[in-house]
Amino acid sequence: MTQDELKQAVAQAAADYVAANAPEGSIIGVGTGSTANFFIDALAPFKNKYRGAVASSEATRKRLEGHGITVFDLNDVDTIPVYVDGADEVDHGLNMIKGGGGALTREKIVAAVAQTFVCIADGSKLVTTMGQFPLPVEVIPMARAHVARELAKLGGTPVLREGFVTDNGNLILDVKGLRIADPKGLEAQINQITGVVTNGLFAVRPANVLLLGTTDGVRTIL
Ligand code: A5P
Repeated sequence: MTQDELKQAVAQAAADYVAANAPEGSIIGVGTGSTANFFIDALAPFKNKYRGAVASSEATRKRLEGHGITVFDLNDVDTIPVYVDGADEVDHGLNMIKGGGGALTREKIVAAVAQTFVCIADGSKLVTTMGQFPLPVEVIPMARAHVARELAKLGGTPVLREGFVTDNGNLILDVKGLRIADPKGLEAQINQITGVVTNGLFAVRPANVLLLGTTDGVRTIL
């Protein structure tokens, strides 16, 4: 199976999970990236079952609306039973690195509201220790150099994502060379640096369910 076929399989499994677990008329949280895009396509045939969706990025909002799915402002939504999103790395405790697509802050906000976070990923994303994938950190533009110096003190090598501005008008530093032994601790430590909006570690609020695409089928890891 190709990587795209694995992503499609987990996207379909996530649509089935949502159908089984999200009450009719509820609002679904939708993530960002190539795997999330497959999920949007798999969700579309069931769109009349739900009131609509909350999008974690402008790209996702456009794709949802392209399928005729109503997109709500998160401020107008009280509860999101299920949020479905991909990951750049996920460990066996369902902690994740996210933000390869630059949508980490909105993803973290939607995840904070959601009751259940369903991570969808092909098997290549499952790791024992995170850090091989550079950790994205969203920063306020005027704090870029200060934050980069502070991240270097933590042992990483921050690299500015060239030519990229987030949906929130900020910059991304991709931090290479971190070996993340304590994901929750590092997430909190980086978020304490003045000028950081958020970082791509999702450990304080990890996923609740991982649907992992393998050549033997979709594995559900809780
Ligand atoms: C977007 O900002 C990211 O968090 C994505 O969820 C993550 O990068 C996974 O993307 P793919 O599904 O494209 O690998």
